[in-house]
Amino acid sequence: MNNKIINVQNLTKTFGEKEVICRCNMTVPQGVIYGFLGANGAGKTTIFKLITGLLNPTYGQINILGLDIGKSHNKILKQLGCMIESPIFYDHLSATENLEIHLKYMGCIDANIEKTLNDVGLVNIGKQPVSKFSLGMRQRLGIARAIIHKPRILILDEPINGLDPMGIREMRELFIRLVQEEHMTILISSHILSEIEYIADIIGVIVNGSIVEEITLLSIKEKFPEGLEEYFFNIMNGGNTYE
Ligand SMILES: Nc1ncnc2c1ncn2[C@@H]1O[C@H](COP(=O)(O)OP(=O)(O)O)[C@@H](O)[C@H]1O
Ligand SMILES: [Mg+2]
Repeated sequence: MNNKIINVQNLTKTFGEKEVICRCNMTVPQGVIYGFLGANGAGKTTIFKLITGLLNPTYGQINILGLDIGKSHNKILKQLGCMIESPIFYDHLSATENLEIHLKYMGCIDANIEKTLNDVGLVNIGKQPVSKFSLGMRQRLGIARAIIHKPRILILDEPINGLDPMGIREMRELFIRLVQEEHMTILISSHILSEIEYIADIIGVIVNGSIVEEITLLSIKEKFPEGLEEYFFNIMNGGNTYE
């Protein structure tokens, strides 16, 4: 549990003149659900893109499973499942065909497409093209694509956007099951604090491109018995939990 499965040091990203991610350190232990919190525009998606190699850092180190993402990108990619921002599919193809293409790309031969679709609650969808899917169905398919090759690390950027309350509950249960039964480590961002409070073991908070705190949910609850919302607003108002 204390193995660092993701270790980020001094991570900085500038777009033009603008420093969007500033000297961030982040440690994700193996086997946890790490909830990543931050206001809109704080830098959550950018950090996820850097960790998954979709963007190159301006400077800093990113180690995943003990390997440098810049040097071992392909090796690491097979161990990652990601859904970052709204998932994009081949809209004229079915869910099954989209997953087949993904599996071929990942070089994965022993995945169970039907079971995975079932796990994310996409049942009786037959051969209908993804273009006919609702936003919630697309989101479910995005999650299916992120988990189907049984990655060691799952990176989910606002995964419950567009889901109805039932879908939110189903995905929550799925994420917990993936950690307990498939031994995945999950890094998840959400602006819905209650959702993170339900499932996270550790919380990282990013404010204006800087990670200001990493703390266990248990410690938060000791200091803020009212819960995560109280903690988060305290930080956003410039508070520090250790004052
Ligand atoms: N490709 C880009 N070019 C310039 N600025 C960007 C780019 N991507 C993100 N940003 C800026 O970086 C900041 C962080 O964005 P983002 O990571 O999307 O935040 P979050 O996901 O927390 O809402 C924002 O100010 C955004 O405008
Ligand atoms: Mg974002």
